[in-house]
Amino acid sequence: MTAPLHTVTTMPTERQPGCPFDPPKELIEAREQSPISRFPFPDGHQGWLVTGYDLTRSILADPRFSSRKELMRHHPTIDYGDIEVPPAPPGEFLLMDDPQHSRYRKPLVGKFTVRRMRLLTERVEQVTAEHLDAMEKAGPTADLVTAFAKPIPAIIICELLGVPYEDRGRFQENIDKFLGGEAGDEELIAAYIATQQYLAELVAAKRANPTDDVLSDLTDSDLTDEELQGMALILLSAGFDTTANMLALGTFALLQNPEQLAALRADPGLAEQAVEELLRYLSVAKQFYRIALEDVELGGHTITAGTTVILSLNTANRDPERFPNPHTLDLHRQDGGHLAFSHGIHQCLGQQLARVEMRVAFPALLNRFPTLRLAVPADEVALRPEAADIYGIKSLPVTWDA
Ligand code: HEM
Repeated sequence: MTAPLHTVTTMPTERQPGCPFDPPKELIEAREQSPISRFPFPDGHQGWLVTGYDLTRSILADPRFSSRKELMRHHPTIDYGDIEVPPAPPGEFLLMDDPQHSRYRKPLVGKFTVRRMRLLTERVEQVTAEHLDAMEKAGPTADLVTAFAKPIPAIIICELLGVPYEDRGRFQENIDKFLGGEAGDEELIAAYIATQQYLAELVAAKRANPTDDVLSDLTDSDLTDEELQGMALILLSAGFDTTANMLALGTFALLQNPEQLAALRADPGLAEQAVEELLRYLSVAKQFYRIALEDVELGGHTITAGTTVILSLNTANRDPERFPNPHTLDLHRQDGGHLAFSHGIHQCLGQQLARVEMRVAFPALLNRFPTLRLAVPADEVALRPEAADIYGIKSLPVTWDA
């Protein structure tokens, strides 16, 4: 049976004023109508937009849907016309299917296990304490993004991969451009070329002088320099930007929900659960794409081969059929199973690292500054635009009683 057809005509470009943590209202309304809607892309391609939890999860786990960007040549806001989209460069496995994808993911899995990441806890605590010391010394005001949210995950991923932290000036701003949603085409191309140049030098340095780190370990394999560069790009950009935005946006969300903040401050044992709820509630990696490789029957519709599907992870994580009172931040929530790290073969490789960082950093921040508060009105906090691949905050001015 064919289900009634609901259509979303354009992707929303903004969130509701005063609701910086909620998906745009057009997406929430679309999900209320139907977990799957028709979505006409600007180039005329008739695609789909999936906003329901169950459908999103099943598509993510279904090998009949591909992540290959050269097949998926449709963009929700841009008409590419006749331009051919090239396949992902070697090593950029986020945009590949198995078996190519697993050629790159497999050698990394053992390096990001729960056990390995737990061993990093002490180092994360140390780096966090150093940044809180520096904030306290320079205070009683700070931009939480530059003083805390960005440097902690950046230092840890640099140490893990074996990237000198002093080199960050050569790629950090460029990664911001890739994921921040504000750079123009020329700027993006220049940023990509500069980052590739840096990564080529880095890989050559690791081959010449291997040290005790993930990238050096990978040089002892049949992976080519080009492949290692691609893998390093995915790891660095994911490792730099996602957790940083979770820490900043998460702190903003807690400051806007004082009872929740008080509960976490009072009970450090709540940190694990609190982090899962913040991941669900904020879903900073908000939207991904898949293309049907064959005709698939789903939700009462036929998704025909060659059709692009937009998966709105942040809207799926607000599905009331899966999460009661989904728009409430409830750190005691027991539901579990959010899709903030995706699902299926591309499920986030760095999730255990991100968890360790957040479980350490949120309680440490709240306990160091018992009177932490925003230094500007909430509606003046500079957020990333809705077009950003990773949602988040550009700066978060905070203050406290010295
Ligand atoms: C809170 C922080 C993070 C969030 C919300 C997040 C989210 C995600 C999501 C949603 C995907 C899957 C995309 C898809 O299905 O197409 C993904 C993949 C990935 N993430 Fe993360 N991530 C985070 C932190 C990290 C960190 C710290 C690393 C560092 C190593 C990392 C490395 C990766 C990699 C390598 C992939 C590609 C996996 C694959 O294609 O097999 N992520 N992440």
